[in-house]
Amino acid sequence: MKILIVGDVYSKLGRASFERNVKQIKEKEKIDIIIVNGENTSHGRGLNEKHYRWYLNQGVSIITLGNHAFENKSIIDFINDTDNVIRPYNFPNKFPGKGFITFRWNNLKITVMQMIGKVFMNDEYLCPFEKTLDLLNKLDSDIYICDFHAEATSEKIAYAHCFDGKIHVIYGTHTHVQTNDARIMENGTAYITDVGMTGALDGVIGVKKEIIINRFLYGMQERFTPQNEGKTQFNAIILEINEISKKAANIDIINLIE
Ligand SMILES: [Fe+2]
Ligand SMILES: [Fe+2]
Repeated sequence: MKILIVGDVYSKLGRASFERNVKQIKEKEKIDIIIVNGENTSHGRGLNEKHYRWYLNQGVSIITLGNHAFENKSIIDFINDTDNVIRPYNFPNKFPGKGFITFRWNNLKITVMQMIGKVFMNDEYLCPFEKTLDLLNKLDSDIYICDFHAEATSEKIAYAHCFDGKIHVIYGTHTHVQTNDARIMENGTAYITDVGMTGALDGVIGVKKEIIINRFLYGMQERFTPQNEGKTQFNAIILEINEISKKAANIDIINLIE
């Protein structure tokens, strides 16, 4: 079984790059399941219903979110009714939506979950380590896949070691920069610290660079606007899972600049 996981798709250029590349990768690599991080899909902030349906039309099975999950308020209207969208499981319980989805693929029961980190993030989030232990105790799936949405590389690596051999695929999102450490860990978990983003190459992780430079130089608090021109980057990983042994067999990175 082959799974394509695409990192944070950011606004207009991200959607264009996604549409341009996913179809041909799917055919060329014989991809079975597509997972995407969609927290920045709609104008860089959240996911609206139109873009949610657009993902389903592109053959996406699961859309994960992150700290921007509820910045587009329209998600409240559909997040509780969908079986394709998850937000971090360790969000406070009052938050809408669910933190994992279990589905069948051939004879396998697959669970995709999302956790969000606490280091340099919002204090309100519950402990991702504790919540993962709780969740794994409750479930009996054949394959577990986790989007660990976090800022600090140390927190992500500690999480990967903690759940090495228990979660088959652990991949980082949120920093929007692909790391060079994709590997199969000692106990069999396929891991990368960050998949990287899909969208503008020349902004600052998706935002127009002038806005961010002026923020650092002069403290100007201009509202974030997506970089909608110029080159794009498409960042993703391809996982191969052995259906017989139920183990991760390979992890490859994709980094396309166009
Ligand atoms: Fe993001
Ligand atoms: Fe994020």
